[in-house]
Amino acid sequence: MTETRHVAGRHFLQIPGPTNVPDRVLRAIDNPTIDHRGPAFGQMGRELLANLRQIFKTSGPVVIYPASGTGAWEAALTNTLSPGDRVLMCRTGWFATLWKEMAERLGLKPEFIDTDWRRGADVAGIGAALADDKAHAIKAVCVVHNETSTGCTSRIDEVRAAMDAAGHPALLMVDTISSLASIDYRHDEWGVDVTVAGSQKGLMLPPGLSFNAVSAKALKAAESAKCARSYWDWRPMLEANKTGYFPYTPGTNLLFGLNEAVKMLLEEGLPNVFARHDRHAEATRRAVRAWGLEIQCADPRHYSSSLTAVRVPEGSSADKLRAVILEKCNMSLGNGLGILKDRVFRIGHLGDFGDLQLIGTLGGVEIGLRAAGIPHRNGGVQAAVDYLAGNA
Ligand SMILES: Cc1ncc(COP(=O)(O)O)c(C=O)c1O
Repeated sequence: MTETRHVAGRHFLQIPGPTNVPDRVLRAIDNPTIDHRGPAFGQMGRELLANLRQIFKTSGPVVIYPASGTGAWEAALTNTLSPGDRVLMCRTGWFATLWKEMAERLGLKPEFIDTDWRRGADVAGIGAALADDKAHAIKAVCVVHNETSTGCTSRIDEVRAAMDAAGHPALLMVDTISSLASIDYRHDEWGVDVTVAGSQKGLMLPPGLSFNAVSAKALKAAESAKCARSYWDWRPMLEANKTGYFPYTPGTNLLFGLNEAVKMLLEEGLPNVFARHDRHAEATRRAVRAWGLEIQCADPRHYSSSLTAVRVPEGSSADKLRAVILEKCNMSLGNGLGILKDRVFRIGHLGDFGDLQLIGTLGGVEIGLRAAGIPHRNGGVQAAVDYLAGNA
């Protein structure tokens, strides 16, 4: 191991996931590992699988994988589709691009509707592509709800409405990896067929679990889907889940943590969780504007409540700024991905996060802007304090 210097004070992990894990969840995870085929596990599994549905706002099953979010992307595609199937996707940013590349590797035929990475999915474009597809060759529409690389949130209700208006039977698959339990999301009401999620963001857990919430229509599609799948197959999972168990060794201790995290979210109440995220996002945007910097998301209807990507002025380096902030303030911020490399830094304000953590985070950014010599105005932290004080 390389020798590390002690830095006093707690590290600020303000990347847009993994997020800070609350003590209650950490205490749950550090329970002794138990027999995953014993009665205590089954009881916990039944409770967890029932409660989890409330977070996705679904009455249907939610499959849990011991995998990062990428695994749940693969599960969504391979359980429902066959090689050669056309899939409509929207290039909202880096993560949408990765999902499309995966679809190609799996032998699917993804088609991209482009964006400038400054807004959510192009709903009119999706509607037009579906209306053109009279033969219904497009089998699925895949949208990233909250594009973590840009801080833009797509309107899934509008995507659903566009699909309905086109009278198109494609499945709707939505990546909620950085929105679930942070931004309002309604699997059943919005007619989503597969919701993909991960543990390490709004669910306040370490990385290592991912999810598929599955509609009846998706389950039907799984009966004829020809993509090869074994580990990701929903069917043995759903069979074992009926009694609270799993077909292979589950991530026992992460599931203890998940059970606790779900209880915490339900205790706070999902409307309050979403309002808290909205409020912190608005305070952050006010700070960014006060600094005279630009928010990457150009459409206020698509502002993300879980993160804000901030553009640095031409000639400045976002990566240098992040390095200065890490060195001086012991805080990690998200980097720019893909075409936004070195052009933006991303402030995560999701998960187990309160007003004072936000003010500390914005204070660290303001110190860093000055130390890195990035042209800006003072007063961002003050703008956030003014907003928070008036909106307690
Ligand atoms: C929106 C989105 N989708 C997919 C992923 C990939 O998930 P993972 O890194 O957990 O495999 C991420 C990761 O940050 C993400 O933010």
